[in-house]
Amino acid sequence: MKRFVLAAIAAVALGGAAYADTIKVGVIGPFSGPFALQGKNFKAGIDAYMAVNGKKVGNDEVEVIYRDLPAADPAQSKSLAQELVVKEKVQYLAGFYFTPDAMAVTPILKQANVPMVIFNAATSAIVTKSPLVVRTSFTTWQTSTPIAKVAFDAGVKKVISVVSDYGPGVDAENAFKAGFEKQGGEVVQAIRMPLSTNDFSPIMQRIKDSGAQGVFAFLPSGPTTLGFVKAYNENGLKTAGIKLFAPGDLTQESDLPALGDAALGMQTTFHYAVSHDSPENKAFVAAAGKAIGNPAELTFPAVGAFDGMHVIYKMIEATGGKQDAQKAVDAVKGLSWVSPRGPVTIDPESRHITQNIYLREVAKSDDGKYYNKEIQTFEKQGDPGLAAAK
Ligand code: PHB
Repeated sequence: MKRFVLAAIAAVALGGAAYADTIKVGVIGPFSGPFALQGKNFKAGIDAYMAVNGKKVGNDEVEVIYRDLPAADPAQSKSLAQELVVKEKVQYLAGFYFTPDAMAVTPILKQANVPMVIFNAATSAIVTKSPLVVRTSFTTWQTSTPIAKVAFDAGVKKVISVVSDYGPGVDAENAFKAGFEKQGGEVVQAIRMPLSTNDFSPIMQRIKDSGAQGVFAFLPSGPTTLGFVKAYNENGLKTAGIKLFAPGDLTQESDLPALGDAALGMQTTFHYAVSHDSPENKAFVAAAGKAIGNPAELTFPAVGAFDGMHVIYKMIEATGGKQDAQKAVDAVKGLSWVSPRGPVTIDPESRHITQNIYLREVAKSDDGKYYNKEIQTFEKQGDPGLAAAK
C-alpha cells in the first residue's frame, strides 16, 4: 500500500496522470460449433486491427476477452454479457453474430454503462433498442433493397421469397417485397423457414410448384447458406432457369470452393467482397489473412469486426479511457473513414453504418479461384429499414 502511494506521488510529480490502464473489450460470438468460422472471422478482424494499429490507445492497453456462443441463444448471450460486465469489468461489449443474441443484451447496457458495438447482427430494429448501440456491419434491409431492382431489370416479374423465420429474414423479405413491388414486380409467395431447417428439398419443390421465375432468399451465412445454394443446384432449379437473387450472405467467399462451378454467375448485393479493389482492402486482406492463417477462410464478419475495433478505439480515445458509455457513443456519431469495404460513416441519428452496397457476380479467376466480382455500386446507402423498425 505504502509503495503504491509513493509510486502514485512519483507519477504525479513526474507531471502526468500517466497510469496505464487496461481497457477490456468483451466479444461474444460463435467460436465453436457449426458457425465457428464466422467467429474465427471476428477474431481475425480484431487481430488484424490490433496488429496494424497497436494494442494501445493513449496510455491504455486494450485487452479483448472472448466468450463463445455457438448458436443463437438469447438467454445465454445475456448471461455471458452480464458475466463480462460484472466479473471481468469490460468497458465495451462487442461481436454478436445473431440478432437474438444482440437483442437480449440491449436492456443491460444503460445500467452497466457499457456501449455495444455490433460486428454482425443485421436486423434494423436492434439500434432502436438502446441509445448505446452502434453497428458496423449491415442490415438485411440495406443489402436486400438493391437486389430487387437487379431482379426486375433482369426481366424477372414474379418472384417467390424464402427466408429464415427470424429478425433479419423477416426484414429481408419486407425489403425485397417493397423494392420489387416499387419496380412493378410481384412476390407470388413468401415462405419463412425455421432457423433450424437443414433439409431444403421440400422448399425447392415448393419453389418449382409456385410458377415463379425467380427466387429471393435470405439465410444467415454458414452451413445453412451453403446447404441452401447446394440444394438449389442439386434440385435442378438452376437448370430449370429459376433465377436466384439474394444478399451476399449466400455467396460468402469461404463457401465458394465448396459450391464450385454451380455458383458461377450468381448475382448478390452486399457491403463487402474480399476482392474489393482498394489499397485499404489490400492492406486489410494481408493483415486479416495472416491473422486467420488460411486466407481462403476470410469472409465478411472479419470486416465488421475490423471496423468495429476502429469505432471502439475512437471511443476509448474520446473518453480518455474512462468508463462513460454515452460520451463514447456520442464521440462516434458522424464518424467517417475509409473501410476495407469503401467509404463509411456512422449515421449520427441511427448509429448504424452508411456504406456502399455492391452488386457482385460469382466469377472464376485465371488461377481457378472463385470470387465475388463487383460489377455495380449503389453509393452511400443508409438503412431503409429504420422507418419500418420504428
Ligand atoms: C443475424 O442474425 O442478424 C444475421 C446472421 C448472419 C447473417 C446475417 C444476419 O449472415
